[in-house]
Amino acid sequence: MILRPLTHADLPAMTALDGECFPPEDAYSPEVMAWFFSLPGARGLGWFDEDVLAAFILWSGAEIITLDVDSHHRRRRIGRSLLELAASAIRGKGHPAAILQVDRNNLPALALYRSLGFSVRDEYREGRKWRYEMALAFPRDHRSKSQVSSSKPRIRK
Ligand SMILES: CC(C)(COP(=O)(O)OP(=O)(O)OC[C@H]1O[C@@H](n2cnc3c(N)ncnc32)[C@H](O)[C@@H]1OP(=O)(O)O)[C@@H](O)C(=O)NCCC(=O)NCCS
Repeated sequence: MILRPLTHADLPAMTALDGECFPPEDAYSPEVMAWFFSLPGARGLGWFDEDVLAAFILWSGAEIITLDVDSHHRRRRIGRSLLELAASAIRGKGHPAAILQVDRNNLPALALYRSLGFSVRDEYREGRKWRYEMALAFPRDHRSKSQVSSSKPRIRK
């Protein structure tokens, strides 16, 4: 397996994997995935198994946009590793916390996030689904003056 930063050339594979990981109402279209990837500060990391994208994480600023692990590669600590790397990068940029949105019924993701120290800071309804906004606060002495924006687009996952 190879871990490397994602580029625009990876967008089709990212969208395809997202479509396998989420139901149609939650999966990102190619246009939405490309829009997220074009946001200021957007970065992605992908695990490749013989050149095939097996898992990736995408974030922008302090926000984790999506974390996708192919069903054949789950429970191998890949999701945890990607999330730790993203959180470390977010912290390194001086953000006080990493934040994400997750479906309240997504028990595997909730277990992963809680095991890394994320906690629920908001609960909101979107259509028929309830979602949590979760945050991983970094120790205060590493905080900079930058703040997590509250005027962000809602991320559906
Ligand atoms: C959620 C997801 C990213 C987890 O990825 P993963 O690589 O399988 O997770 P890891 O192997 O790193 O698991 C780390 C920990 O998370 C928890 N966890 C992960 N999957 C779990 C499951 N199915 N049931 C219960 N706990 C689970 C466990 O605490 C696990 O630690 P352990 O293996 O020592 O028990 C993966 O299931 C996935 O891609 N799901 C579909 C997409 C999705 O829901 N993404 C999150 C969007 S918010």
